[in-house]
Amino acid sequence: MNANQPIGLFDSGIGGLTVANALAKAMPNERLIYFGDTAHLPYGDKSADLIKGYAEKITHFLLDNHCKAIVIACNTASSVAYEVVKDICADNAIAFNVIDPVVAKIKEENYQKVGIIGTLGTIGSNIYYDKIKAAKSSIRAYSLATPLLAPMIESGFIHGQISELVIENYLVNDILEEIEAIVLGCTHYPLIKKQIEQLYDRLHKSVDVLATNEIAAEFVKKVLLEKGLMANQKSTEPHHFYVSDYTASFEQTTRLFYGAEVKLERVNL
Ligand code: DGL
Repeated sequence: MNANQPIGLFDSGIGGLTVANALAKAMPNERLIYFGDTAHLPYGDKSADLIKGYAEKITHFLLDNHCKAIVIACNTASSVAYEVVKDICADNAIAFNVIDPVVAKIKEENYQKVGIIGTLGTIGSNIYYDKIKAAKSSIRAYSLATPLLAPMIESGFIHGQISELVIENYLVNDILEEIEAIVLGCTHYPLIKKQIEQLYDRLHKSVDVLATNEIAAEFVKKVLLEKGLMANQKSTEPHHFYVSDYTASFEQTTRLFYGAEVKLERVNL
């Protein structure tokens, strides 16, 4: 491993571009290799075994592209496939999931009651609950699956009444009544972070909204710095964005998640 190698990251589709964006902002010198598994999207309602199989192939692809680190830029895949990715990386790359950094942050901030929203897969795996309890057993964690949010965001419903109604319907829920912080446990959700904050403002509730992309990017930066693996010069090579299936609409949607349109390259694994 050396500092000049790229960082690889993957998601079920283009939602993980919110993580790519946060990584690029936190570490502007780093070159990124992104893989969006658009042929198998969404991961949220797939079985753990299927997702592990996809993660295995993608990890080999990113290692073949000489990545020094592999970030699972998807909460669903982080929930079920982190160990698989970590084993494949062995000593050749550092494996990151987007969940552990958030759990560390919850402990650090000393929250006592936290809510978690995510896909059926992430919430069904109980991963956040289990990891939060393992970090500090007195923290109360309340999970809610919000399966409409990722397709809603991907279809461009971010501002306006429809998304406001859906967000409110999910979040005004007895389960989440007393929380101090809410984890946006899906890499699509940073796009509606503002709308969620506005909802809590309207409700006069003080709830911190924790987006996995920014927290994970800061964590990756910290670890790379500690290990002397952060690039100290901007790479002359551009980022690469690969997908397993291509449509023009995927490419248009990249603007939504990455902040700029990016050129997608199709690759068959
Ligand atoms: N971006 C994925 C996640 O973080 C959700 C989208 C999907 O269901 O594939 O969980």
